[in-house]
Amino acid sequence: MKKLYLTSPDREYPIPDFINMKDMPACISTNEYINENLDSLSGDIPLLVSADIQTGGKGRDGRKWIPVGEGGIYMSYLLNINNRENIGLLSLAAGTAVAEAIAGKTGLNVQLKWPNDIELSGLKAGGILIENKLFNKSMLAVIGIGLNVNVGQQQLREDILKTATSLSMISGRQANMGELILRISEYLLYFTGIMENGLYENILERYLLYLKHKPGDEISFHHSGETINGKFKKINDKGALVLKLKDGKEETFFSGEIHTIV
Ligand code: BTN
Repeated sequence: MKKLYLTSPDREYPIPDFINMKDMPACISTNEYINENLDSLSGDIPLLVSADIQTGGKGRDGRKWIPVGEGGIYMSYLLNINNRENIGLLSLAAGTAVAEAIAGKTGLNVQLKWPNDIELSGLKAGGILIENKLFNKSMLAVIGIGLNVNVGQQQLREDILKTATSLSMISGRQANMGELILRISEYLLYFTGIMENGLYENILERYLLYLKHKPGDEISFHHSGETINGKFKKINDKGALVLKLKDGKEETFFSGEIHTIV
């Protein structure tokens, strides 16, 4: 068994040896740490990199992941993707892994906003940034997860105060972050294993249990600098968002940001 770096007792939890782990007191970005040290780290795949504090995290679509200090989970998994078919579903698999871990440990009603924003009571508690890369002819994925766990309202910067939350703000309880990191890791390895075996329907089925959008929901969608309004139709078997537009046409999107639901 290994231990996470401890600056706070709520990271005290044994991590089993089958999880290769590099844990640090602080880091600029756990995703970037992997990107910069791929040569030396690739021998340890599957590898979990985590930090107690992250100062310059990256978000999706070139955004920043605003640091909330202690009480946040900042972790990235480096995985080998042998089966590249349906790699788009990896992002749903990662979201489902985090949702299952939170629901299982806290009983909170966690929801996923497509593709994989982690929401509690309609507010963002976590996000996932996946970076795929070819390395020595292998396809690798860096799955970066940020989750506000034991984070008080005073730790949230003013610009995210209205849209962000944490597990402790919603539940009124502190959660053991070490245990959550372990559960997320286990689910991630489980779901990515399922994907490697081509059992994509299983991923989608579990994902849909947490998806907040229901058919017919009005969606305001930001894609390539444009705002598109439409009705949510479904998530297709490639993990893409299918919207029904005002003119009745259907359109499929592989990336973008759902902004507001009116
Ligand atoms: C999003 O925009 O919602 C995705 C945020 C992902 C943040 C996590 S924190 C750990 C990992 N390291 C990073 O730099 N980003 C991801």
